[in-house]
Amino acid sequence: MAISLTVNGSKQETNSDPSTPLLYVLRDDFGLNGAKYGCGLGQCGSCTVMVDGAAVLSCVTPLLAVQGRTVTTIEGLGTAEQPGPMQEAFIELQAAQCGYCIPGMMMAAQALLQKNASPTDAEIRQALAFNLCRCGTHMRILASIHRAAELMKSAASGQTEGSAG
Ligand code: FES
Repeated sequence: MAISLTVNGSKQETNSDPSTPLLYVLRDDFGLNGAKYGCGLGQCGSCTVMVDGAAVLSCVTPLLAVQGRTVTTIEGLGTAEQPGPMQEAFIELQAAQCGYCIPGMMMAAQALLQKNASPTDAEIRQALAFNLCRCGTHMRILASIHRAAELMKSAASGQTEGSAG
């Protein structure tokens, strides 16, 4: 049975078994290697993606659960040439050390900022409580998310001014 879903704005279809973890489908069927396999048990957050705007652990999400839904991965936030605000902020503040956890961190943060444009430190910590970083760059990650919030707000006000003018 083919299962269809929208990934980073494109309609996709796969014949993978409906019980296959979404993480495997993204990486193996669609060639999107940004989401990382860490624990495979829903305990580290490195596989975090967004499904209909909410942060989801893709290693414990079966393909069937996302049928007809909209999935966004780190590749959907921007490109190396044109990074999105979240990516730009993490690069600007050099938040990555080994970098393995960073795509999951960014996706959890993106989901938070889409609901809450100006989160407090406590709200960020709560939203990213399931994303582990073994290098210990937590303070830079926190600062990057505040910076991403600023960049998103200034981009939004620029758009508003542009449309008003
Ligand atoms: Fe999914 Fe660790 S790989 S939570």
